Amino acid sequence: MTILSVLDARQIPHEVRLDAILQKLNSLKTGEGVVLVAPHAPDQLMRKLLKEFPGRYDFSPGSRGPEAWRYHIVARQAGPRTVSGYLAWDHDRLDGIMEIATKLAEQDQWPRAANVLAEFKEGLFRHIDIEEAILFPAFEERTGMRDVGPTAVMRLEHVDIKEAVNDIAAAAKAKSLDDFESAKGRLLGVLVEHNMKEEQVIYPGVDQMLDGASREQLVEKLLLG
Ligand SMILES: [Fe+2]
Ligand SMILES: [Fe+2]
Repeated sequence: MTILSVLDARQIPHEVRLDAILQKLNSLKTGEGVVLVAPHAPDQLMRKLLKEFPGRYDFSPGSRGPEAWRYHIVARQAGPRTVSGYLAWDHDRLDGIMEIATKLAEQDQWPRAANVLAEFKEGLFRHIDIEEAILFPAFEERTGMRDVGPTAVMRLEHVDIKEAVNDIAAAAKAKSLDDFESAKGRLLGVLVEHNMKEEQVIYPGVDQMLDGASREQLVEKLLLG
C-alpha cells in the first residue's frame, strides 16, 4: 500500500494554512499521498481540489471528527476519472488499513489496533454508504434492476460485512486475538468476493452506462460523499 506522510494542518497558522497544504499536495508525485489532519471538516479544500486540479487527487476520509478530521489524499495521474478507478482505489486503501490493524493485533498492541480498526470501520461504512446512496441508484435507474439483480445482492452482503466489522472491533476491545481472527475470517469470506464482483460488474457497468460528463459528476459526488 501507499505509505502516507502526515500533514497536520492544526500545526500551521490559519492565515497560511491553505497555501501550505496546496503547496505540499502540489509537490506529491503520482502515487504519493498524505494523511491530512484538520481541526474541522475540510470540505472546502476538497471542493477546491476537484475544481482547480481536476482528476489529480483521490481522497477519502480516515476519520471525521469530532476533534480532528483525517483525510487520505493520494496524487493520481491527472485525467478522466471512472467509478472503477476511485472505488477500487478505496478498496485497496481499506485493505491496507486492515493489514496494519492485523499486524498490531498480532503484536498485542490492542489500543493502537483498536484505533486503526475504528478508522477501518469508519472508512468501510462510509464506502458502503456512498455505494448505496449514490452508486447503486445510478445502476438501478439505468438497468431497471432494483429488488432483484446485482445491487440487491450487494446490499445484503453489506449487512453481513458490517456485522463482521463490528465483531472485529469488539474483539479488539476485548483484546482477544482468537475472536479477532475468527471475525476477520468471516469478514474476508464475504468481502473479498464482494469487492471482486463490484470491480468486475457494477463499477465498470456504471462507467459504461454514463457519458464522460455524467461519469465525472458521479465520481465527484462519490468523492465528496
Ligand atoms: Fe460494496
Ligand atoms: Fe465497494
